[in-house]
Amino acid sequence: MATKFVIEGLKAQIEGKEILKGINLEMNGGEIHAIMGPNGTGKSTLASALMGHPKYEVTEGTVTLNGEDVLDMGVDERALAGMFLAMQYPSEIAGVTNSDFLRSAINARRGEGNEISLIKFIRQMEGSMKGLEMNPEFAHRYLNEGFSGGEKKRNEILQMMMLDPKLVILDEIDSGLDIDALRIVANGVNEMKHEDRGFLIITHYQRLLNYITPDFVHVMMQGRIVKSGGPELAARLEQDGYDWIKEELGITDETVGQEQEA
Ligand SMILES: Nc1ncnc2c1ncn2[C@@H]1O[C@H](COP(=O)(O)OP(=O)(O)OP(=O)(O)O)[C@@H](O)[C@H]1O
Ligand SMILES: [Mg+2]
Repeated sequence: MATKFVIEGLKAQIEGKEILKGINLEMNGGEIHAIMGPNGTGKSTLASALMGHPKYEVTEGTVTLNGEDVLDMGVDERALAGMFLAMQYPSEIAGVTNSDFLRSAINARRGEGNEISLIKFIRQMEGSMKGLEMNPEFAHRYLNEGFSGGEKKRNEILQMMMLDPKLVILDEIDSGLDIDALRIVANGVNEMKHEDRGFLIITHYQRLLNYITPDFVHVMMQGRIVKSGGPELAARLEQDGYDWIKEELGITDETVGQEQEA
């Protein structure tokens, strides 16, 4: 079945403060959607809310993946349904090696009785790590513990490649990457392009989109998508910044929350 991901009227709050104020987005398999927008406009909150982070309370709206109600699923179920998030700040897990973590995650998705063989797992992991130019020792390091910023980001892409998700959300995967790593990470994403997989890529910079061409670009302000377009929109933002959109829409403060208190 072709992948379809639909967000309708999504509102979410944290500790009583509304951050997402009605997000609408429709995405088909094979498409890459970039989400851009100034700091503090709700981009990471959207990613967390979609993955079911317990801190964010969804108050309105619907989210479906291939017709299934995502909001009704727990965090684990969302992952099992094929949703994957590479976080802006990946967490460290002491005592769990990278390869153990990956194998558990893969097997959880494959289900009991259908576990990946150790040989096949190792072959796949070694292959993916090679493609990402990661030192093989990272397989045996504790998850993200002591990883440099760039190493964490590369490792998130390794997880994405191994987990074969249907919906990939990358939150600032380019932040902290050197030029070579940026290209390597982008190659990883491009290799994973597939008609059954959609990508939601949150980024501040055109430079990532020079390597990963988005089909659609959306701009978030005040907890909403305020403008959508094609790759040319990202190019214009790179050149002109956000002021022209704010002027067009009569927005003075683009961040979330302030206008409520005013
Ligand atoms: N756990 C939280 N507790 C309190 N406030 C929060 C929490 N999570 C998000 N917010 C607030 O929600 C607003 C949006 O934050 P969010 O992280 O979604 O922004 P962003 O668009 O990802 O910004 P950036 O580009 O800087 O990463 C911010 O004002 C932030 O402080
Ligand atoms: Mg963010």
